[in-house]
Amino acid sequence: MNTIDYLRISLIDKCNFRCQYCMPEEQELNYLLSEDILTKQELLTLVKQVFIPLGFTKFRLTGGEPLLRPDLVDIIAEINNLSATRDISLTTNGYLLANQAQSLYDAGLKRINISLDSLNQDTFDEIIGNHGKSRWHQTWLGIQRAYDVGFNPLKLNVVVIPGVNDSEVLDLAQLTINKNWHIRFIEFMPIGNSQLFTKKAWIPSEEIRQQIRAKWGLEESNIRGNGPADVFKIPNAKGTLGFISQMSECFCDRCNRVRLSADGWLRPCLLNETGQVNLKKALRTGKNINFIQKKVQDLLLLKPEINFKERESGTNNIYSRTMSQIGG
Ligand code: GTP
Ligand code: 5AD
Ligand code: SF4
Repeated sequence: MNTIDYLRISLIDKCNFRCQYCMPEEQELNYLLSEDILTKQELLTLVKQVFIPLGFTKFRLTGGEPLLRPDLVDIIAEINNLSATRDISLTTNGYLLANQAQSLYDAGLKRINISLDSLNQDTFDEIIGNHGKSRWHQTWLGIQRAYDVGFNPLKLNVVVIPGVNDSEVLDLAQLTINKNWHIRFIEFMPIGNSQLFTKKAWIPSEEIRQQIRAKWGLEESNIRGNGPADVFKIPNAKGTLGFISQMSECFCDRCNRVRLSADGWLRPCLLNETGQVNLKKALRTGKNINFIQKKVQDLLLLKPEINFKERESGTNNIYSRTMSQIGG
């Protein structure tokens, strides 16, 4: 059985983008009330007294958009100061990063994953929803700033959508030749926007690799991160290319993570909420730490079975939560 030692914590369900594949504008969303969101203190209690004693050493902060959370820097500093923390990371859309990169780094965050679905301003704006003025430049500035501040590795996530940004695969891959950036192409998942999905919305990673191989060649890299990406490299490039292929391959057998939603539900799997437990309720009704630990342990034992269930039942499920609510 895999060691489950990686907790993804969604700090907030709100986002300042409305990506088509995640929380499309036409979809009405009911945001959580602020009192329903785990407080910093509750989060730290869970991390320190429940997850670390159970062997968790890696923590990723996600959203919605985690940079919208006012106490983010304090949360990072406190988790980072815990001696058991081996890895703390953040996934962001990058829009607010230019101003916050230095303080996040100073608080102890050393690596970061940023979404960048297009190098083309119009395509980018089409994907993230209409916000008036283009948001591409501010996002690009956030990425540059993160690089200058010293985040390493710096990973850029690209969800590949046919007919929208698939023509940019080579341009994006090319960025890794001269920069120590790690571009990851992600197969679009049928979650959040099923309408988009019915139009044959995902491209197998192998098709993308073939395009790259034909142009520059492609070497398998011996680097494996903490996550599901298969890592490759253009020969002599400074950065790498990762492929997250949840549709064409099954990586459930090496899954090392569980997810905590902003409102305190611990779920065993991105795609399956069977057996999820409400840790916020447990904390707020005064359950003792041993009781909460036992609930988490039970969920970890159930996880291997759940991992594969979703794939067997196909992709027709109605998801009760969008990607932004789960935290990717
Ligand atoms: P690191 O390797 O630690 O940098 O993390 P990561 O790649 O898992 O983090 P990130 O937040 O950048 O996740 C990238 C994407 O990978 C997610 O948005 C999902 O699309 C996909 N992904 C991550 N974890 C899982 C998982 O457990 N199951 C599935 N199906 N997809 C996942
Ligand atoms: N399929 C694949 N990846 C997705 N993300 C959001 N929604 C989807 C989806 N439907 C990714 C974004 C972001 C991360 C948090 O989740 O690219 O990088
Ligand atoms: Fe926001 Fe990330 Fe979802 Fe895009 S993928 S809408 S940036 S939470």
